[in-house]
Amino acid sequence: TLKAVIFDLDGVITDTAEYHYLAWKAIAEELGIPFTREFNENLKGVSRMDSLKLLLSQAETPIAYSDAELDQLADRKNKLYVELIEKITPADLLPGVTDFVKEIRSSGVKTGIASASKNAPTVIHRLGIEDQFDVIVDVNTLKNNKPDPEIFLTAAAALGADPADCIGVEDAVSGVDAIKAAGMFAVAIGNAAHFPHADVVLDSTSQLNFGVLKAKFEGQ
Ligand code: BG6
Ligand code: MG
Repeated sequence: TLKAVIFDLDGVITDTAEYHYLAWKAIAEELGIPFTREFNENLKGVSRMDSLKLLLSQAETPIAYSDAELDQLADRKNKLYVELIEKITPADLLPGVTDFVKEIRSSGVKTGIASASKNAPTVIHRLGIEDQFDVIVDVNTLKNNKPDPEIFLTAAAALGADPADCIGVEDAVSGVDAIKAAGMFAVAIGNAAHFPHADVVLDSTSQLNFGVLKAKFEGQ
């Protein structure tokens, strides 16, 4: 039986995936590294430093950066990102999300956030939705990044739910892989071609319907 729905944040609850993309694109342009939306799919759900390393691997002539230089580049990306999220208000919740979360909670099912972002608490605060989630995993306490299941397993444990009784919602390939590795039912938001491992793929959050997903979860 369904006990909990665990959400990714960036690109699922609000469109911060676009802000991460814009901030990385600015860094890539500075460095003269080609950067496309298609390549950006690989960065979704990936930690700040790992994203930087993936981006740098796209350089035509790879440069060896020192750890200090890598830290500076990652900090610069984060400053650009933090500027972008300063403007977030509750109006930036993606379509359908508020009603979906309300339906889950009114059915007695728990809700959690499993975001790889160190900025997640700020974004959640600006959206005004702290009280809608029973747990927000602190990414600073984790050892492994998505696609490792640790973040989803940590959320489930905090909610007192068996992973088999959880649905995970993600917009990242690495995130869907993390949900499946955790033994959960995976709902992906985005282009179905990107998500061969998801149990359900929706084009957009406006298609999130608790009754429909619960029936699919129960029929799996
Ligand atoms: C994930 C995003 O939620 O958080 C990634 O999908 C991002 O794009 C990662 O790199 C880490 O975010 P931050 O805010 O800690 O740099
Ligand atoms: Mg995401």
